[in-house]
Amino acid sequence: MTSKPGLKLVDRDESGVDTAFREDVIEGLSQQPKAIPARWLYDDAGSQLFEDITKVPEYYPTRAETEILERQGESFAKLIGPGRAVVEFGSGSSIKTPLLLRAIEPAAYVPLDISGDFLRAAAADLAAKFPGLPVLPVEADFMRKVALPEEVADLPKLGFFPGSTIGNMVARTAVDLLRSMRQTLGVGSQLLIGMDLIKDETVLLAAYDDAAGVTAEFNLNLARRINRELGGDIDIDALRHQARWNDDFARVEMHLVAQRDLEFSVAGQSFALNKGESIHTENSHKFTRRTAHMLLAASGWEMQARWLDEAKRFSLIMADARPNRSAP
Ligand code: AVI
Repeated sequence: MTSKPGLKLVDRDESGVDTAFREDVIEGLSQQPKAIPARWLYDDAGSQLFEDITKVPEYYPTRAETEILERQGESFAKLIGPGRAVVEFGSGSSIKTPLLLRAIEPAAYVPLDISGDFLRAAAADLAAKFPGLPVLPVEADFMRKVALPEEVADLPKLGFFPGSTIGNMVARTAVDLLRSMRQTLGVGSQLLIGMDLIKDETVLLAAYDDAAGVTAEFNLNLARRINRELGGDIDIDALRHQARWNDDFARVEMHLVAQRDLEFSVAGQSFALNKGESIHTENSHKFTRRTAHMLLAASGWEMQARWLDEAKRFSLIMADARPNRSAP
């Protein structure tokens, strides 16, 4: 372990294995039903596959959110005003972030990310596009309160969390994150957050099971990663990607379903999957205006405005952190 305070750095054992990955996989495969946290989908190959997903015709969220950012610049400018420090939770997208920064007159841009390499590359790219704008990257785990650079201490802040990544968290984790964001940004701050909308099930399922099979590859890559990094011997050909709509939780789930009875070992431990049994690998929650309102309010944020793309598939929401006050 390196000794930077407050950072959740990758802890590897003597053979180079990411110990948190091993623990999560062993624990997830030992429980019933089997489930592995979605964050492990994103090794280098998984991150590239996600980029590819954003370009398949069925996966509408990225295009829909970009459309809102392109069209609503004037409304953002009115509501946000000039002179805010924009704090982005994540390294920033080369397309969406410039659209926001161009629409408002920010005083600084502070991207936060746990991965220093991505962060520095994205920050350099952004700084080149916006000469004169202070770009102050911070390497940090934003699931907890983050100390922002001193240069922005006295500036009003706008948090930016596009992509509907909040939807990849179960409610408890989403509330933890939104509360941490409130602590990081402070009372009086604003938050511009993307949330995908509940819609026709066939449209949702197609978005998570595209005809070209890119999402299937993204999901199967997790099993490949387990084999590669944890000495697993899972028969990848015996697993099939499946997207399921879970109506109780209003979410699309990704599963890896066994096509036959399977036995395999991972990190020296034996596991079995019966034919038809699955490993649950991701949740992608979808929202209505009301459920978005409730999630934000439960975390100390009040919805100020909400914009949809023209086809009403995706929402971008502006919320603000008001002081806590007594209510009836
Ligand atoms: C990153 N996240 C918002 C994506 C989503 O839509 O939930 C991840 C994804 N999984 C499958 N396709 C896209």
